[in-house]
Amino acid sequence: MKAVISLGGIFFSDAETIKNVAAMLDELAKSCNLYVVTGGGERAREYISIARELGANEALCDYMGIALTRINAKLLISALTNAYPEPFLDYKEVAVAKTKGDEERIAVMGGVSPGYTTDAVAAILAEFVNADLLLDVTSVDGVYDADPRIDPSAKKYDKLTPKELVALTMKGDLKAGSRIVIDPVAAKIIERSGMKTIVINGSDPRGIIDAVHGKHQGTEISE
Ligand code: UTP
Repeated sequence: MKAVISLGGIFFSDAETIKNVAAMLDELAKSCNLYVVTGGGERAREYISIARELGANEALCDYMGIALTRINAKLLISALTNAYPEPFLDYKEVAVAKTKGDEERIAVMGGVSPGYTTDAVAAILAEFVNADLLLDVTSVDGVYDADPRIDPSAKKYDKLTPKELVALTMKGDLKAGSRIVIDPVAAKIIERSGMKTIVINGSDPRGIIDAVHGKHQGTEISE
């Protein structure tokens, strides 16, 4: 099994949380060929908002976000026992490094270029390395028809087709640092690749192992 995990910024708030998720990823890597993409979280949003106040345009704000996602990638690498020593900067670098015999070593990377979020990075990486699964681990427990943190009547989907996901995400905002469960670029990549995708809540990191083995209470995106 080859899996790409998009790890939301919520996992990088403190050392204990990073340690817990790293221990679980180390365990999972013994039975699963793992690629992890790290989000930027609140710190990225903080820097983006300061930059915006200073007059930075959206692309420059995106670069701020990318820098923070890469710092989080370094934090995760510090806590993992068997990872490549540096975050990868693009997709091809990962594929060149992770060759046969290296399946147990975890490849970690943050953002790549402006215009999308690390969900899209994870979707492109999953397509590029021919993963079996894209797992999006986030702060909500699946894909909703509205933001459940704002709208209490929001309805959660257990299953969606890629086409339905695209239609839902197109309503979202793609400004630097915006809060969307899956960004529209990621949704389009998922649609074109047909990549099986699961969105779960990461409050219990063990849920990641269960989800890779098909047990979850999030949203599954597949045909
Ligand atoms: P995140 O991937 O962390 O955004 O990227 P997110 O998914 O909304 O947030 P969390 O971490 O799951 O809570 C943070 C910001 O960095 C820029 C974007 O501005 C994004 O909103 N970014 C990130 C890019 O422009 N390109 C990338 O490849 C990655």
